Amino acid sequence: MDQLGSRASPFLRLALVLFLCLWCSCYGAEDGQLITMLPPRGWNSYDSFSWTIDEAAFLHNAQIMADKLLPHGYQYAVIDFLWYRKVANGSGKDSYGFDSIDQWGRPFPDPERFPSSRGGKGFKPIADKVHAMGLKFGIHLMNGISTQSVNASTPILDISTGKAYVEDGRQWTTSDIGLTNRTCAWMTNGFMSVNTDMGAGRAFLRSLYRQYADWGVDFVKVDCIFGTDYSPKEIVAVSEVLKKLERPVVLSISPGTKATPALAHKITRHVDMYRITGDDWDSWKDVLPHFDVARSFAAANKIGATGLRGRSWPDLDMLPFGRLTDAGVNEGPHRSTNLTFEEQRTQMLLWSMAKSPLMYGGDLRHLNDDTFNLITHPTLLKINHHTKSNMEFGYIHSERTSKPNYQLSYPVDLTNNDGMVLGLGTCNDESASGWHSSSKDHICRNYEIQNNDASFCIAKSKILPTSGGVNLSNEEDQGKFHLASIDNDDSCLDASVGPMFSPCEGHAKQVWELTGKGHLVSSYSGLCATIQSNKEGERKAAGARAWIATGNKGEIYVALFNLDTVSRKIAVRVPDLEKGVGRKLARKHLCSCTEVWSGKSRSLVKGDISAVVSSHGSMLFEIQC
Ligand SMILES: *[C@@H]1O[C@H](CO)[C@@H](O)[C@H](O)[C@H]1NC(C)=O
Ligand SMILES: *[C@@H]1O[C@H](CO)[C@@H](O)[C@H](O)[C@H]1NC(C)=O
Ligand SMILES: *[C@@H]1O[C@H](CO)[C@@H](O)[C@H](O)[C@H]1NC(C)=O
Ligand SMILES: *[C@@H]1O[C@H](CO)[C@@H](O)[C@H](O)[C@H]1NC(C)=O
Ligand SMILES: *[C@@H]1O[C@H](CO)[C@@H](O)[C@H](O)[C@H]1NC(C)=O
Repeated sequence: MDQLGSRASPFLRLALVLFLCLWCSCYGAEDGQLITMLPPRGWNSYDSFSWTIDEAAFLHNAQIMADKLLPHGYQYAVIDFLWYRKVANGSGKDSYGFDSIDQWGRPFPDPERFPSSRGGKGFKPIADKVHAMGLKFGIHLMNGISTQSVNASTPILDISTGKAYVEDGRQWTTSDIGLTNRTCAWMTNGFMSVNTDMGAGRAFLRSLYRQYADWGVDFVKVDCIFGTDYSPKEIVAVSEVLKKLERPVVLSISPGTKATPALAHKITRHVDMYRITGDDWDSWKDVLPHFDVARSFAAANKIGATGLRGRSWPDLDMLPFGRLTDAGVNEGPHRSTNLTFEEQRTQMLLWSMAKSPLMYGGDLRHLNDDTFNLITHPTLLKINHHTKSNMEFGYIHSERTSKPNYQLSYPVDLTNNDGMVLGLGTCNDESASGWHSSSKDHICRNYEIQNNDASFCIAKSKILPTSGGVNLSNEEDQGKFHLASIDNDDSCLDASVGPMFSPCEGHAKQVWELTGKGHLVSSYSGLCATIQSNKEGERKAAGARAWIATGNKGEIYVALFNLDTVSRKIAVRVPDLEKGVGRKLARKHLCSCTEVWSGKSRSLVKGDISAVVSSHGSMLFEIQC
C-alpha cells in the first residue's frame, strides 16, 4: 500500500483515501468494534456445571476449547451464573447470604472456587490466561443488583472520581437504588432491578461494567432481563454503559421464554444476541418448540438485524450434548445427554439453518469424536456463518411411511367450505392482503370462486389482558384484538403454530391487528394471515418441516426435518424450491445435489428432492448449479 501510495497520482491518492474512509465507515475498522457480524460461537459452563464450576475445571475446559474448537470459530469461553456464590450447605440457586460482595456493592468471584481472584484481582488472572489461549472471556450476570448488596447498603463507586457517588450534596447507597418491588421472578431472594431513572442507579451500572472491562471480560450474558422478564429500559441502560467502554464487550441477553419478534423489535439494536426460548435441555420436548420460534424470527427478518456491535442474533440456547449436569443443581457433570445422536444432529442442523449462536454446553474434558465431529461439521458451520435468506420453507409434501398413523395436532390447516385455507405468511405475499372489517364485527377477505364473489370471515373477539409485550390496556396496543372461530367463540386464532384455533388466553400469540393496507398482522410474529385455495394449502404437512438457505457461492441448502414419532417421506418439488429461492435453476441436468449426511449425490432432473427421514431425524441437501 505504501509503495502504491507514493507512486500514485494525486487523483489516485484521493480516490484511495476516499475508498479507505468509506471502507472504514462501513466496516467500522476505525473502532474495530463490529465484532458480531457473524453469530458468535463458544462454550458455556451451565449445561455441564450448573453454577458450581471452579477455576481449575474452567481453565481445563478453556484449554480444550482452544486446542480443538477455536480452529472452528468457537471463541467465547463463558462462566455461567453465580460465580460469586459460595458452594456450601444451604447455598443454592436461590439462596441468600452466600455471595461475595465488595465495599461498593459489586460481586466478586468466590475465592474458594476461583483462588486466583484473591486480593481484589477479580477475574483478571483468569481472563489473562484465557486470552493467552487465543480465546475471549465471558461471564454471566444477573440483571440488577444482589439483595445482599442492597441490604449491605454500601456506597456506590463513582468511576469518574474513584470515590463514593455524590449527587445533590448527598452520598447514595445501594439501598437507594435496588427496586425491592422488582425482584427477579425466578431468583426472588437473590437479585432485583436497579432503578435506572436515578443517577445513582446508572452510576452503579457503570461501576459494575467498568470493573468487568478492567478484568478483561469480552462477553456478558445478562439474565432475567428478556422474555417473560422483559425489561427494555434496563436492556437499553446496560447497552448504553457498554457502548461507552473502550473495550468492546458483546451483550447477550436471556432468557427467552415467551419471546416474540414484536418483543425483540425494540431491543435488537441494543444487543448482540438474545435468547428466544426458555432453557433448552437435552430432551426432545425442549428441542421441538424451537422450530416454531425460529420460523417466526426468520420470517420477521430478525436474523442478523442491526445490533449493538454489528448484527444481532436470535439465540436458540446452548447445545446440551456430551457430558452434562441437571438444571440448577449444586453438582457438576455426572451423566450423558439424553438426546439420541439423530436428535442432536437435528438440533445442530436447525441451529445452523437459523444462524443461531452456537454455544456448546457439554464438559469438554469428555468430548467424544461423534460430538466433536457434529459441532465442527464443516457444512453446518458454513451454513451457520455464510448463508442468507434462511427461512422455513412451507412447500413440502410428506406422508408417513409406517404405522401408527394418527394425526399430530400441528400444524392444522383451516379450510372453509369453498376449500380456501387460512395460513400464515410474509406480509408481502399477495394472499396476505385484502382483509377488511365487515359490518358485523367480522374481519373478512373476499375471493372469487367459479365467477362468484365469496368471503372468508373470522370473528373479532373479546379482548383479554395479555402478556409477552402486548398489553391491550396500553394506548399503542389499542386496536389490537383476538380473533375467534365463527363456530366457537371460546377458541382464538393462534399464530404460534400453524395457525390454528386454540383456547382463548391472554397471550400475544393470539393478538392481531388490521392495518390500513388490509393486512391482518400477528402481534406475536409480525407475520400476516393469508388465504389460499386448498390446493396450495395441502403443501403443509403435519410433522415435517423444511428450511432453505442460500450460500455465498449461490449454492442452495435444503434441510428436511421429521418431528413425527414415526418415519416420513418428505419431498420438496424443484419448481417450488425455485419459487422459494426466487430464481430458476438453469440447466438442471448440470446441477449437483448431494445429501450431506450420507455424501450421496442424486439428480435434480426428476423434479423433486425427496427422502425417507426417520423419526426426529433430518437430512441436508446441498445443491450446486
Ligand atoms: C453438609 O451437611 C451434611 C448433613 O447435614 C453433612 O453431612 C456434610 O458434611 C455437610 N457438608 C459440608 C461441606 O459442611
Ligand atoms: C434484607 O434485610 C432486611 C432488613 O434490612 C431483612 O428484613 C431481609 O430479610 C433481608 N433480606 C434477606 C433475603 O435476608
Ligand atoms: C417500585 O418502587 C419504586 C421506587 O421505590 C416506585 O417508583 C415504583 O412505582 C414501584 N413499582 C411498583 C410496580 O410498585
Ligand atoms: C434424562 O433422562 C433421565 C433418565 O431417564 C431423566 O431422569 C431426566 O429427567 C432426563 N433429563 C432431561 C433433561 O430430560
Ligand atoms: C397493562 O397496562 C396497564 C396500564 O398501563 C397496567 O395497569 C397493567 O398493569 C398492565 N398489565 C400488564 C400485565 O402488564
